[in-house]
Amino acid sequence: MSTLDMTRPNPDARFWNRIAERYARKPVPDQAAYETKLAKTDGYLEPDDRVLEIGCGTGTTALHHAPRVAQIRATDISPKMIAIARDKAQSAGIDNVSFEASGIDALDATPAQYDVILAHSILHLLDDVPRTLRQLHHMLEPGGLLISNTQCIGDSIPWLAWIAPLGRAIGVLPRINVFREAEFLKWLADAGFDIEEVWQAKPKASHYVVARAADR
Ligand SMILES: C[S@@+](CC[C@H](N)C(=O)[O-])C[C@H]1O[C@@H](n2cnc3c(N)ncnc32)[C@H](O)[C@@H]1O
Repeated sequence: MSTLDMTRPNPDARFWNRIAERYARKPVPDQAAYETKLAKTDGYLEPDDRVLEIGCGTGTTALHHAPRVAQIRATDISPKMIAIARDKAQSAGIDNVSFEASGIDALDATPAQYDVILAHSILHLLDDVPRTLRQLHHMLEPGGLLISNTQCIGDSIPWLAWIAPLGRAIGVLPRINVFREAEFLKWLADAGFDIEEVWQAKPKASHYVVARAADR
């Protein structure tokens, strides 16, 4: 199993370790939109589903969906996020979610291991989204679902592409990947997904996308 050492964090984990406590306390920016997405996802889940979540943060989403599925493996590159998530699971008495400190690239998974993969507010933080989408497709059962929530920053704040590398270099921003909705949907199709649903709470908000892994 791939885990991260809290004493020597991966460079991408440093930013998120540093803000983990603050992130846990911060209210969700648009609670109504968040609840709509949770309800939509609930509608796609089955009681015997094996679920992987990547970039799970402090675990709120995994803990919400846990009663509806068989098991959730919730992963995040930040050991501090994972520590908070584990505390929350223990306080809630939820035992079918395992939290694991692991970056996406280091995840060990056999082909077709999952029925559903959740990827919320994470794909726009990765350097090679097409590669990650291919990796996730490989981990899904044929017909399995990738349910993601992604900020297509190329449509909403394209100028961020100019300052994001500087912000990252001085430690005030995480790694940010600036791409448009059209590019994102094409990458999903190229990785072997059929789009089931695309939803935005309002223009320029993040894209909630449900994509089904086509048969190989
Ligand atoms: C914006 S937060 C989203 C957290 C949660 N999914 C949510 O919706 O609240 C992004 C999360 O992705 C994690 N993350 C960033 N890069 C990652 C990577 N390469 N692999 C796994 N997790 C990563 C961060 O540690 C952070 O917890």
